[in-house]
Amino acid sequence: MRLRNITGSREVIADSSYVVHEEQSCPGKWREIFGNDHPIHIEIGMGKGKFIHTMAKLHPQINYVGIEKYSSVLLRAIQKMEEEELPNLKFIRMDAEDITRVFAPGEVDRIYLNSPIPGPRTGMPSAGCRPGSFWPDMM
Ligand SMILES: C[S@@+](CC[C@H](N)C(=O)[O-])C[C@H]1O[C@@H](n2cnc3c(N)ncnc32)[C@H](O)[C@@H]1O
Repeated sequence: MRLRNITGSREVIADSSYVVHEEQSCPGKWREIFGNDHPIHIEIGMGKGKFIHTMAKLHPQINYVGIEKYSSVLLRAIQKMEEEELPNLKFIRMDAEDITRVFAPGEVDRIYLNSPIPGPRTGMPSAGCRPGSFWPDMM
């Protein structure tokens, strides 16, 4: 899904209010960030955000956080939010391997992992996206 590098994507992300910045200061603060105590569902490797945007629209009583490693891909999700803004959806640009530094234990109610990329040698999902590598710490 990695797109060719798009000039300016990092600047758009840095300026976007849809993106949570300084994510490592976020553990324990997600209710504050969304301004409510609704359940939090996250998607790891959200790509262009089609799934998570649809889910956020269908379920306004759930807060969604989409995580994507690449700026050029996240840019597409931001553009979609500019077309149709949803208050219960936020994005983070980060490597999912660091995800336990972003959510406190018990803070995440559900994790979606749709179509993970196989690792180059093993054919298994890459370490950051492998079920069980970090999930129990947050749930
Ligand atoms: C095959 S796409 C699937 C996109 C979306 N989930 C879907 O089902 O349409 C996988 C996405 O995961 C992202 N990704 C892969 N490894 C990642 C990691 N370690 N951290 C964050 N995102 C990652 C890729 O950049 C890509 O956008």
